[in-house]
Amino acid sequence: MEYTVRYNELTAEQFIELWETVWGQGPTLEQTRLAMEHTLFRVSVFDGETIIAMARMIGDMGLDYYIKDVIVRPEYQGKGIGRLLIGELLGFVRKSGISGTGIFVELCAMPDKIPFYEKFGFEANEAQRLKMMYQIP
Ligand SMILES: CC(C)(COP(=O)(O)OP(=O)(O)OC[C@H]1O[C@@H](n2cnc3c(N)ncnc32)[C@H](O)[C@@H]1OP(=O)(O)O)[C@@H](O)C(=O)NCCC(=O)NCCS
Repeated sequence: MEYTVRYNELTAEQFIELWETVWGQGPTLEQTRLAMEHTLFRVSVFDGETIIAMARMIGDMGLDYYIKDVIVRPEYQGKGIGRLLIGELLGFVRKSGISGTGIFVELCAMPDKIPFYEKFGFEANEAQRLKMMYQIP
């Protein structure tokens, strides 16, 4: 099947639509619009007019790159689209980052997704650091 890959066009509405196919109630439109605006790189995949996958990279372009919201619509999973998304994200870092500086790309994976990311060379380092969170009331 032919899919269309789009760069930096992902809208807040599309983000929420796709989010809700896997994780239930999505974030607010207002928050998501701001997030899209401040994302370094957005990749989205379409089957015709239907959004079927997305991923984004946040960070500062110099020291920190962080992968967020890698989602393939459930009925399109297992067809190589997740691999395509990671390839696009890492390609963006290779093009935009300063080469030879050993840039680290980070992400937070759910335990059952660790083998997926390991396929692309990501390594878990839970033993060294644990993610800490604070929710602004
Ligand atoms: C995780 C996700 C993005 C993978 O996308 P996908 O399109 O199904 O993955 P692909 O078909 O491109 O798979 C690429 C490779 O990873 C493997 N893989 C995919 N999901 C896997 C998993 N959960 N565990 C182990 N291997 C996995 C595939 O078998 C394939 O291997 P191969 O290339 O050697 O044959 C998709 O399942 C998804 O959107 N899940 C819901 C949202 C989510 O949990 N996102 C990640 C948050 S951490």
